[in-house]
Amino acid sequence: MVRRDFRPAGNLPVELTSLIGRRAEAAEVRRLWSGSRLVTLTGPGGVGKTRLALHVGRAARAAFPDGVWLVALGDVTQPDLLASTVASALREEGLGGTGNLAVADYIGERHMLLILDNCEHLIEVCAKLTTDLLVRCPNLRVLATSREALRIDGEALYPVPPLSLPAPGQQVARGEAGRFGAVALFFERASALNPGFTTTAADEQAVIDLCRRLDGLPLAIELTAAGVRLLPLEVLVDSAADPSSERVFGSRTASSRHQTLRATMDYSHKLCSPDAQRRNS
Ligand SMILES: Nc1ncnc2c1ncn2[C@@H]1O[C@H](COP(=O)(O)OP(=O)(O)O)[C@@H](O)[C@H]1O
Ligand SMILES: [Mg+2]
Repeated sequence: MVRRDFRPAGNLPVELTSLIGRRAEAAEVRRLWSGSRLVTLTGPGGVGKTRLALHVGRAARAAFPDGVWLVALGDVTQPDLLASTVASALREEGLGGTGNLAVADYIGERHMLLILDNCEHLIEVCAKLTTDLLVRCPNLRVLATSREALRIDGEALYPVPPLSLPAPGQQVARGEAGRFGAVALFFERASALNPGFTTTAADEQAVIDLCRRLDGLPLAIELTAAGVRLLPLEVLVDSAADPSSERVFGSRTASSRHQTLRATMDYSHKLCSPDAQRRNS
């Protein structure tokens, strides 16, 4: 007989790649939850905010009988579509209204977790919606991801750190490099794409250096690791040292913001105020 496992409510996607590390980070987010119904994961593009939010949400499903719901805002360009985007993520398009209060009425006393992913470009309306919901829905929790804080009452901030790396100058014994999250991610993605991928001791040091040049950013590491199909490791290390090089080896289905580091940097740049843009360019 086929056993049908209990499926918790919600809409979280199944993970297509394995998660590296993040045990301590997930524990810290859970700790912040004990004092705040809104936790915002902040940090630059590609540091792993969305991935961590989904991981924490998935692990917490049993605590939310009314579901863990992902609201992906990356492609929503109009602020006035926010409430209806939340409604359609909840699969409740006909809420009897289209504004924040209709969403709040629907959620009511439900025990739910909303993951508002990529709030930065809709920050004002996300702040308003989250306030409207949290004051009306006592059993709702919100996990937001954003390059900047929502800056509303009761928000707890968690700046997502890059993946771990050995300290500069730290000697790492042969075979031990994979204990560091950044290096483990590189090895894992490189060997998934290139089953013959093996490393010597010298390669391990090269990968540590490479990951350091990429600041331990998971997105940058994934894009670079995809290059092992095309280029020898030494060339990748050199290309990572060159900030003008475009790494376009990434997944075809990654969002356009994630397809190249250059695109990620351009996207961050566009989000900055004109003053900050001038300072950064
Ligand atoms: N801990 C991790 N283990 C494996 N892959 C990761 C991890 N963190 C991030 N990634 C991958 O790196 C890429 C960028 O992460 P993402 O969460 O989208 O960053 P952000 O939301 O901060 O822009 C994604 O492809 C994601 O799956
Ligand atoms: Mg994201």
